[in-house]
Order: sequence, then C-alpha cells, then structure tokens
Amino acid sequence: MKLSLFDESQFYEVIDLFKRVFSASESEEDGQVIADFVSNLITTTKPEDLIGCVAEDNGGVIGCIFFSRLTVPSGQEAFILSPVAVLTNVQGTGIGQKLIRYGLDHLKSLGVHLAFTYGDPSYYCKTGFEPISENIVKAPCSLSQPMGWLAQALNGSEIHTMVGETACVEALNDPSLW
Ligand SMILES: CC(C)(COP(=O)(O)OP(=O)(O)OC[C@H]1O[C@@H](n2cnc3c(N)ncnc32)[C@H](O)[C@@H]1OP(=O)(O)O)[C@@H](O)C(=O)NCCC(=O)NCCS
Repeated sequence: MKLSLFDESQFYEVIDLFKRVFSASESEEDGQVIADFVSNLITTTKPEDLIGCVAEDNGGVIGCIFFSRLTVPSGQEAFILSPVAVLTNVQGTGIGQKLIRYGLDHLKSLGVHLAFTYGDPSYYCKTGFEPISENIVKAPCSLSQPMGWLAQALNGSEIHTMVGETACVEALNDPSLW
C-alpha cells in the first residue's frame, strides 16, 4: 500500500470511492450526499486550506481522507479531519488508521498546532483524538452529537480554553453535515 497526498488528477476516483463506500455503509442517498460534499470541498476550498491523503494499492485508490482549515480564536493553525473512507472490502485492516497517522504527520511537518474531527470517539481515539468540550473550543456549527467533537494538539500539549467562534471552510459550513 502506498500513502501520498491527494492530487487533483485523482478527483473522479476519489469522488467515486466516497460514493461507493457510504452507499454501502449508509444508503445510496448518503453516498450521493457525501460525493457532492467531497466534490464541493475540493472545488471550492483554497489549496492552502485543504489537505487530502490517499491510500493506493495496485494503482487504485482504496482510502481517502481530507483535512480542511479551521479558524480558531487563539490564532493557532488548525485543521479538521472530514471525511474519511476506506474501500468496503478492505475495511478493518488498518488502512484508515495508517492514513490518518500519515495525514497528522504531514500536518505536524507543516507546523500545524491542532487537529479536530467530528465522529465516533471509539474510532478516532485510536489516532490520538480526544473528546473536547465546546466550553474549551466551540464547533463551527451546532452539533447533533456533542460527544463526537474531538481534538488533539499535535505537539502533545494541552488545548487551552478559547473564547470566541471558530470557522470552517465553506463546503463544511452546512448544518446538515453536523
Ligand atoms: C470508518 C472507517 C474509515 C475505518 O477505517 P478502517 O480502515 O476500516 O479501520 P482500521 O482498520 O484502521 O481500524 C479498525 C479498528 O477500528 C474499528 N472501527 C472501524 N470502523 C469503525 C467505526 N465506524 N466506528 C468505530 N470503530 C470502528 C474496528 O472495530 C477496529 O478496531 P480494533 O482495531 O480494536 O479491532 C472505514 O471503516 C469506513 O470507510 N467506513 C465507512 C465510512 C465511514 O463511516 N467513515 C467515517 C465517517 S466520515
């Protein structure tokens, strides 16, 4: 398996991966919603605000994750991980965790301070994320499942309380995704 940064030449393959994976795990409708979201994320986000990582095997994409910029009141550099997909027939073999670790290492190499995500704590805690209260850092949209608001400081330090709003990129600024 090869891990690398997302390249725009992989656009259609990546959209197809998200569509297929979420159609299988959720529903065809959810597959289309996530495909539209990822397409929007890639086409409307400034290059410096978006980092994609892909896992490939035998020349094909088998996993993909995206981090997009989260603007936080402390002024620290922060990115949010969303979404994540691993091809259905190779799920549970460690690809998701390897991709996330690869992406977090890349963020660290860029000097990014904080990583956030919104999802199942039991999965994302495997790669260093921990639940964070909105009293410490607010989410950019209203959370339907506050337990899923997760963060980590990439230098291992504590995340200090921040007063004020956070802002995500336009494609993620959709209340139905939260
Ligand atoms: C969720 C997903 C990205 C995980 O990637 P993966 O490569 O299958 O997972 P890994 O092999 O790295 O990790 C497997 C471990 O995570 C756990 N795990 C896998 N999917 C999980 C989930 N949805 N929730 C909680 N735990 C999960 C497994 O039980 C396993 O635990 P173990 O190591 O203690 O046995 C992948 O299964 C997927 O694409 N699912 C459908 C789309 C989705 O739900 N994406 C996440 C929301 S954006």
